[in-house]
Amino acid sequence: MRFVLRPLYWVVWASPQRRARKLLQFAQVEAEGGRDLVRAAELTQDPVLRRRFFAHARDEARHAKLFRDRGLALRAALPTGQAGASFADWIAPGERGLDDLRVEDEDEGALLAFIHLSESAAARDFATYSSVLGRDPSTRAVFDRILRDEEFHMRYSLAELDRIAPGRRHMLLWKARLRRLWKAYLRLATGLAGVMAMLILTLQYFVLLPPFALLARRAAARERPGWTTIAPAQQATLDRQL
Ligand SMILES: [Fe+2]
Ligand SMILES: [Fe+2]
Repeated sequence: MRFVLRPLYWVVWASPQRRARKLLQFAQVEAEGGRDLVRAAELTQDPVLRRRFFAHARDEARHAKLFRDRGLALRAALPTGQAGASFADWIAPGERGLDDLRVEDEDEGALLAFIHLSESAAARDFATYSSVLGRDPSTRAVFDRILRDEEFHMRYSLAELDRIAPGRRHMLLWKARLRRLWKAYLRLATGLAGVMAMLILTLQYFVLLPPFALLARRAAARERPGWTTIAPAQQATLDRQL
């Protein structure tokens, strides 16, 4: 699938404007993921897991800084006025962090399964983005650096999952997969709803508005210019209303 999408990724990352915006978006998500991990570290009763979560949170904060610095450098090099949202924003997502998961509502096994899948997806995505960034070695170096950490996060979360929930790895991973699928569906449905709303409003603008504009123009043409004398009977009605 990634192989098929590779030309699309190449197009998405070819524009420095899009690169800058995407890196700044990634920085935001990495920072949010880091904050969720600090919360998870505060909640856990397991000292080993607490240390792991804090170390992971520090990595995510570092990733946020790396993405932000590179995004700002790219943006500073752009001609002024080149910014704004793009249709391509949903094509190449970054790390999803904990994907709006409420850390306090999850048990540690479910949380670790979710982290493992999220880190695996990020590692795969970042490897693909790095492979299409041959013409921007500085951005590629950022991805390569972060990718090494994501692979480590992927491994430690699986090892911790086996330690915290022995024998439940497959069941927890499948549950996490289904939840990620559901969240992906919701994101897609929200995106499609936005596109549909835009299409319907555009159609309304071009189909419904012209007849009204025509009627208004005809009415304006029928009106006599200048002052109109009011008949005495009409004047009397107006006086009564005062
Ligand atoms: Fe990260
Ligand atoms: Fe990560």
